[in-house]
Amino acid sequence: MMKNQLLSKVYQVLEPGPVVLLTTAHKGRANIMTLSWHMMVEFEPPLVACVVSNRNHSFAALRATKECVIAVPGVELAPKALRVGNCSGRNVEKFERFGLTPAPAERVAPPLVAECFANLECKLAGFVNKYGIFILEVVKAWTDPAQRNPKTIHHHGYGRFVVDGEMIRLKSKKG
Ligand SMILES: Cc1cc2nc3c(=O)[nH]c(=O)nc-3n(C[C@H](O)[C@H](O)[C@H](O)COP(=O)(O)O)c2cc1C
Repeated sequence: MMKNQLLSKVYQVLEPGPVVLLTTAHKGRANIMTLSWHMMVEFEPPLVACVVSNRNHSFAALRATKECVIAVPGVELAPKALRVGNCSGRNVEKFERFGLTPAPAERVAPPLVAECFANLECKLAGFVNKYGIFILEVVKAWTDPAQRNPKTIHHHGYGRFVVDGEMIRLKSKKG
């Protein structure tokens, strides 16, 4: 028998992940937020749609500078990702507070996150005001060869994460 589910909890069954960290740089200050509401919208050039609430400090920075980095953390960074997502750059220097290392990007001003296994330098390609959806073009992508088998984390609400599991390979005609 199916059970009635609260509409307010629907996001918990559809959260796509992987959880990412989004960095911005505004007025000489770098900031970082946690984000799990994103989706790919084009192969090449790669376009990614991200929902950033206008209540977040990162929102104004992204609107003003039109640049960010999407950094993908492995499971070992889950506690930090949660803490980064539970405070605001309005009153916290998050890189320092959480022991994350900003590294220079090549094509954008916001920093890479050195501890993450992938970092995507992005420029704003579009914006849907009503929903706070930022369409971001990835202009430069980095992966860390030292992190061989990174396990992404997928948020299920209130600090519960599913960790990326076993990979299976099937024959497919389409990528
Ligand atoms: C696991 C997790 C996922 C989150 N996903 C999003 C998201 O997709 N969009 C968003 O606007 N905020 C999201 N948040 C909340 C922001 O990360 C949070 O409000 C953050 O502190 C904003 O920082 P800022 O004010 O420095 O920009 C998430 C938080 C957590 C813990």
